[in-house]
Amino acid sequence: MLASGRGSNLRALIDAVESGAIKAEIVGVFSDRPACAALQVASAASVPARALRPTDFGSRADFDTALFDLIDASQPDLIICAGYMRLISADMVRRHAGRLINIHPSLLPRHRGLDTHARALAAGDSEHGASVHMVSVEVDAGTVIGQARLAVESGETAAALSTRVLQLEHKLLVAIVEAIADGTIGLAPEQVSWRGNALPAPLSLNSQDQLEDTR
Ligand code: GRF
Repeated sequence: MLASGRGSNLRALIDAVESGAIKAEIVGVFSDRPACAALQVASAASVPARALRPTDFGSRADFDTALFDLIDASQPDLIICAGYMRLISADMVRRHAGRLINIHPSLLPRHRGLDTHARALAAGDSEHGASVHMVSVEVDAGTVIGQARLAVESGETAAALSTRVLQLEHKLLVAIVEAIADGTIGLAPEQVSWRGNALPAPLSLNSQDQLEDTR
């Protein structure tokens, strides 16, 4: 896993692995911020954690090569960006095509990038939520695997909305990683499959926290 901040999505995945809900091992947590809370979350759970400082490298490409060499050394089947706040260079995205996913706090393709909650409110959106998607060279533009949505309440602040979406993020990320680990979701460089067939549209997290195809 890659993280830059508080690490609540990481915590949710660690809990799900420890409870046996996700049949997988978290082999490492990697960061661009040596002081971030996510690294402490990892260490407290005895998950190997490493950070590299971007300012110690001459270019984005050099930093990413060093970071992904570390990641690759732990031989992950899946690389999860969970609050990793740095752009990943195109070379590294291509080198890990089909194995790199991200959680984003909006209903993509709406609100790519930052400040998604304030932007959803400013746009007058009646629905908001979270998406897990394949990482592509273009930011927040890869195939959306699944989404969790909620109704925006009238007068709701961006902070309150962010708190509610974060709770959904944890459930969505756990459900999707669980489905990848047990093979219900298949990832390939150009295609996502669901129960053996090409995924025609993003899956939805229902009120029982189950993924379903709601086309
Ligand atoms: C989450 O909202 C995630 O979607 C976004 O950054 C935040 C990270 O939160 N990319 P946390 O570090 O997992 O608590």
